[in-house]
Amino acid sequence: MITHQHHDLFIESCAVRQLAEHVPTPFYAYSQGMIRTQAAAYQTMAATFPDAMVCYAVKANNHPAILSLLAEEGLGADVVSGYELRQAINAGIPPQKIVFSGVGKTVEEINLALHHRIAQINVESLAELDVIQTLAAAFGHPARIALRINPNVDAKTHAKITTGKEENKFGVPLSDLPAVIHRVQSSPHLHWQGLAVHIGSQILTLAPYQAAYAFVMQVVRDLAGHGIVIDHLDLGGGIGIAYHQGPEFTLADYGAMIKTTLGDWPGKVIFEPGRFIVGAAGILVTEVLYIKETQKKRFAIVNAAMTDLIRPALYDAVHRIVPVHQSDATPQSYDVVGPVCETGDILGRDVLLPPLHAGDLVAILDAGAYGAVLASHYNMRSFPAEVMVAGDHYGIITHRQTFEDLNTHRSVWTGPATPKLQG
Ligand code: LLP
Repeated sequence: MITHQHHDLFIESCAVRQLAEHVPTPFYAYSQGMIRTQAAAYQTMAATFPDAMVCYAVKANNHPAILSLLAEEGLGADVVSGYELRQAINAGIPPQKIVFSGVGKTVEEINLALHHRIAQINVESLAELDVIQTLAAAFGHPARIALRINPNVDAKTHAKITTGKEENKFGVPLSDLPAVIHRVQSSPHLHWQGLAVHIGSQILTLAPYQAAYAFVMQVVRDLAGHGIVIDHLDLGGGIGIAYHQGPEFTLADYGAMIKTTLGDWPGKVIFEPGRFIVGAAGILVTEVLYIKETQKKRFAIVNAAMTDLIRPALYDAVHRIVPVHQSDATPQSYDVVGPVCETGDILGRDVLLPPLHAGDLVAILDAGAYGAVLASHYNMRSFPAEVMVAGDHYGIITHRQTFEDLNTHRSVWTGPATPKLQG
């Protein structure tokens, strides 16, 4: 739980103010209990299907401390790069529970997936299918593939996180299906087991899901007509969380809708939740550096920035921001901004907070997903530190980077003294 108790913000049984005495701000803090609760809730919904697998979307937060927790909870992983694949395996997630998504898998990445014999590679284009076939032939065992189809459904979410419309780069259009059928039927190196669909993220209503899944079922029936048996359906992720208003449906509603839509189809369903598992479990703790009042605005300039949490700048996302020490004083309106030299470096607009002073701490809520993973070094800022909390224990799981860390793998160039291109 992340709540105020007697005016002080707590993450589980740790007072955030005390954490900040041991960890330099800005830092992310995650509640182990909340991550476990969300994972277990998803597992419970999935368990109502005869054969289901919950593959956590690693992109939401790839920290090893989080992945190992989810491995313990029995989750698999949805990965989108070779390093994510290695990260999941290193954290103890068995390759048989890993699916590989993404529109631009390289030869090395596909080989890695084949080497580990992961559960499924989600194919995103005909060209990629050809590469997978060639590599699988060299490998000597068929690649287990699912075709990601583009259902042309509007997920009714922010344009930058919509993926299932025909103008988006994701999935294979229906018009490519005959060519895919031909390729698969003529190749012993491809085992076509599934269809995959993912229409977007932070989805708050069931209707787009239902439309996408009905579309998928139509394709399943069409393929059956060609003698192709689809026995895996990867239904993607995307369930939204309550930054302000949460989804209009429960997980149970989602499961029930899927049952109705899939009817008596007997195969295995795969889910790829990311945000739902880790989003609400993380906060970003930051310290007020200065208060600045202009004719138009009152700014709280804090030591976190768009480099630590880019969601407000990139998606106009609104995260709740709360004081770490709550006071009874009348709140004032602040724009909470970072030190980065960009007008867009805003963490929250018109946020009502008690009167703030330099040195005060505030926490940005629901920052566990697509927070730390999207950090950048712009303005030569370090990545933020990260802390895991369980009860009244905490552990630093990412140390704040030093100046030297930022320069690792970089050097000056010595010009002509370096080797010449040969040939
Ligand atoms: N599966 C696939 C194929 C995906 O592309 C994604 C997310 C997921 C699953 C997990 O979706 P989730 O359950 O987390 O909604 N950075 C953005 C979100 C980008 C989502 C990208 N794909 C944000 O901060 O809102």
